[in-house]
Amino acid sequence: MERFELARDAVIKAGEALRQCHLDKSEVERKSGHQDLVTYWDRETEQFLRRRILSAFPQDSVVGEEYPPEEHSPSGMTWYLDPIDGTTNFINQHRNYAISVGCWNGGEPLFGMVLDVERQCLYWGKHGGGAWRNQTPIHVSDRNRIPELLVTTPGIQKTFLEDHPYRDWLIRLARDVRGVRSLGSVALELCEVAAGEADLFAALRSSPWDHNGARIILEEAGGAAYSLDGGPLPLQTKSTVLAVNDEKLMEELRKRYWEGQGEV
Ligand code: IPD
Ligand code: CA
Ligand code: CA
Repeated sequence: MERFELARDAVIKAGEALRQCHLDKSEVERKSGHQDLVTYWDRETEQFLRRRILSAFPQDSVVGEEYPPEEHSPSGMTWYLDPIDGTTNFINQHRNYAISVGCWNGGEPLFGMVLDVERQCLYWGKHGGGAWRNQTPIHVSDRNRIPELLVTTPGIQKTFLEDHPYRDWLIRLARDVRGVRSLGSVALELCEVAAGEADLFAALRSSPWDHNGARIILEEAGGAAYSLDGGPLPLQTKSTVLAVNDEKLMEELRKRYWEGQGEV
């Protein structure tokens, strides 16, 4: 089985297990605090995905959220895994959470896969092969005027309430756009931009496993992901994220906010 087929099979099986599971309170633990949780099911899912990947491709490296990275460089391939992106939603809603997989050959994207578990929607994109939701092609929106934008951001508290050099800029953007939404899953929100359901995504703190799968899907759908200063989005380190539907919107943002020109 090739890597893409293996990933699809493993993600779909892991999704079935999550849909059927009954989460017990005793299975929920705090990590850094009461807004940063992990469950038995996050760990089970990550272990399942790691086992499937490394038994077929033992020379690949795996970077996942819940366990230390397993780095075996010979193949040059690295998998970024978020077993449950949207753990708070998984715990409180049992919906709006995803399994996210990104497979990279060094710095080159191979494919990204994000399963919206409860809706059974598989977002995927292979490098150069377009972006898809199940069997349907998806594409970014063509809205690039600031007052028309629907912005999504994965954590209202983190984005607007905590000190950060970009917070004031995001508050200004939020005032200028048509609307701001927060689903609570970086991977699903990037897929919303890929599918044209949101136009811009901004996050102040995002980890490689949060965005390295969905950013491939977004780029295949016509969009682009940067860090919030407009520079390249790093692959291996935590970063701010600015994802847009296309380069025209980046130009608008540059003119209006970074160069202080233009009017809404
Ligand atoms: C989190 C979600 C959340 C975002 C956090 C992420 P997790 O991932 O994507 O929306 O605000 O920054 O860490 O912990 O549910 O995998
Ligand atoms: Ca995550
Ligand atoms: Ca997670």
